[in-house]
Amino acid sequence: MAARTLLTAGITGVGMSYPDRILTNHDLEKMVETNHQWIVERTGINERRIAEKGTGASVHGAKAAIQALEHAGIRPDQVDQIIVPTVTPDMVFPATACLIQDMIGAQNAWGYDLEGACSGFLFALQNARAQVESGAARRVLVVGTEVMSAILNWEDRNTCILFGDGAGAVVVEAIEAEKVGIFDALLHVDGSGAKYLYQTAGGSRVPASAESVAAKQHFVHQEGREVFKFAVKGMAKVTQDVLERNGLNGKDVKLLVPHQANIRIIEATQRRLDLSDDQVMITIDRFGNTTAASIPMALRVACDEGRLQQGDLVALSAFGAGFTWGSILVRWTAS
Ligand code: UT7
Repeated sequence: MAARTLLTAGITGVGMSYPDRILTNHDLEKMVETNHQWIVERTGINERRIAEKGTGASVHGAKAAIQALEHAGIRPDQVDQIIVPTVTPDMVFPATACLIQDMIGAQNAWGYDLEGACSGFLFALQNARAQVESGAARRVLVVGTEVMSAILNWEDRNTCILFGDGAGAVVVEAIEAEKVGIFDALLHVDGSGAKYLYQTAGGSRVPASAESVAAKQHFVHQEGREVFKFAVKGMAKVTQDVLERNGLNGKDVKLLVPHQANIRIIEATQRRLDLSDDQVMITIDRFGNTTAASIPMALRVACDEGRLQQGDLVALSAFGAGFTWGSILVRWTAS
């Protein structure tokens, strides 16, 4: 049998979309026992976007997808596959990927949702890369989209101040063989961490009931201090590990685009890799933690701010519920 030549997968378009409504820390002061200074010092968040009640994750997901397609210069009917990492799908089923497929008119695409929490975008990007490299798909749309506000307990200051709503999307497609695109991924899960960050109800173990609602089991629950300890070590180490196994170090990185959960977690990775502030993408101040959407949203902001040129080395890193964590290295190929 003839050996199969692997194609090269690259990111060729990035888009994002988020709700108009801004919720500031000062607004939160009126809702729970908190204050602007605590939130900024402990998390780095100033404000976040909140969707109108009843807005499904597909709404901003579809808008982000269309912007990403325009950036890549391809039509919706040229998309072969849509992968939607999210913890806040419109419904338990059908998949939000199906809804987005219909909304954007991607009539030749199949697709599915992927649940990797805050690392979901990286997991989906790795799948997209594998599909393109193998020749199974030519163009894959990855759409991280979240309406975290729908699953927050607005009386719990431990969690409600942290999250925001929004969507980011990328197009992954085959690029010229001599170029380098998405070139390495180091991804992990450790389910022993499941007890620290979860939404108990709405799945098969605790279906929705009057009791589950009364017990607030449909909301995010987080043991923040525990998650913080693992996240601070995990994100820094996995980023260093993937760079090292490619003979690279912090000096080679043009931009670290980390999941935006806490400025102190990001700074720990920055210190470990000895990166300057210019080498680190921060959007948590304006969007809070948008779970699976945070990395593609930050990529779009980086494009808009002119911080990425073709050939730049970009390190994408995340840590989240599961536990899930990982880092992907990309040579930038979008214009
Ligand atoms: O994205 C998925 C992965 N998630 C993460 O990576 C999140 C990881 N965890 C964190 O980012 C941090 O643990 C939090 C931001 C969630 C919390 O920060 P912390 O520095 O770990 O605070 P803490 O939970 O240890 O609480 C410190 C103090 C407590 O008061 P006492 O016991 O010291 O008197 C809390 O009651 O801060 C208090 N506190 C608050 N005060 C004002 C907790 N939340 C608030 C609040 N406003 N919103």
